[in-house]
Amino acid sequence: MNIISKVDKTGIPAAEIEAMRPAAGEALDRLWSGNEPMTGWVKAPVNRNQEELDKIQEIAEIIKDGAELLVVIGIGGSYMGAKAAIEALPKAASGIEVRFLGNNLCTDYYWETLEEIRKKRTILCVISKSGNTMEVRTAFEVVKPLMAEKYGSEEEAAKHIIAITDEETGTLRAEANEFGYATLPVPGDIGGRYSIATPVGLLPMAVSGIDIIEFLDGARDCAESTEWDAGAADYAIVRHLMEKKGKVVEVFALCNSRLQYLGEWMKQLFGESEGKEGKGMMPTSLLYSTDLHSMGQYMQEGQQIFMETLMIVDEPAVTIEIPGGPQKGKTVEEINKAMIGGVTNAHRQADIPIAEVHVPKLDAYNFGQLIYFLETTCAITAMLNGVNPFDQPGVEAYKREMHNLLD
Ligand code: PA5
Repeated sequence: MNIISKVDKTGIPAAEIEAMRPAAGEALDRLWSGNEPMTGWVKAPVNRNQEELDKIQEIAEIIKDGAELLVVIGIGGSYMGAKAAIEALPKAASGIEVRFLGNNLCTDYYWETLEEIRKKRTILCVISKSGNTMEVRTAFEVVKPLMAEKYGSEEEAAKHIIAITDEETGTLRAEANEFGYATLPVPGDIGGRYSIATPVGLLPMAVSGIDIIEFLDGARDCAESTEWDAGAADYAIVRHLMEKKGKVVEVFALCNSRLQYLGEWMKQLFGESEGKEGKGMMPTSLLYSTDLHSMGQYMQEGQQIFMETLMIVDEPAVTIEIPGGPQKGKTVEEINKAMIGGVTNAHRQADIPIAEVHVPKLDAYNFGQLIYFLETTCAITAMLNGVNPFDQPGVEAYKREMHNLLD
């Protein structure tokens, strides 16, 4: 297991963590039991569906050969994992540009994307488990006529559209059946924010040039590792105890700028899974050292309502040596590591509880491990908090109100 999580700087006594381990173990057993709803993601990287993987790879190859741009329409769990991976990981030269739409309702961003579609040979991939999400439907309806114009007819456009949705239900499934779009399934027992290791995340990643088998191997090795549970479970226990001790915010401090979108994915994962029944630390993210020059002041001397989790990539892809000046001969990464050490010392002086999550390097294999580690941490914490990690009843409220206004 390559991901290392450390909780020794959180100030929680080892005995307190030890006392919670049976409860965390019970949560893990429930996750693996196969009897809990929406836990399909737990075994997905281990019990792979080879036929489906072959189909994903085949579709990805066709897209890469024939198109310049893949536009993925999706929101929440239906785009964020792929976006995080694409931002973080190195990609093969054969990969093509992947752009996301339908993840906001910004007219200006729509326009930019429509312009790109006009200029480039484009494939459209619509992802929605429910098939009914307003943002996704809106984007799809806006882009469809443009695709028809571009490819000459609705029938020709349909050959350039892929739908990733529930196998049986929803408007998108019905439409895919009617118009003959290529389709891939979102498994019924996996919710959006846990779906990166399904076609939802894998197809856009493969099209961008990421090795999805390496990614799945990482997730599988994390799932099968005998050490991982201790790492994820202890981190989950600490997160649970922190909230009990009055820390209402968790700051994910991203010490590598390529993790910036992973921070967005983490906010969704932890926020949507844990923020219910008046419980759950509010997840937020900062980019270090960038944000030390803005939020650093608040972290050091503002209200101490948070715990901090440093997300550290141990080795960058390349080494850059500083050619002159007072730090001549050192590498940029040595300065980065000194920054992390400096922040740790300064924040400990301010009594900020610090956890660390280390990734050896940013490649598909380690990223797969990291994703699985974080999903497991999140599910265990939610279960320790006594809430369901796999529903999101609160999200419905704004949708209801939005529909009322539109009606
Ligand atoms: O995690 C979740 O379930 C949500 O964030 C969904 O992914 C998001 O609301 C999009 O839903 P859908 O895929 O049904 O369009």
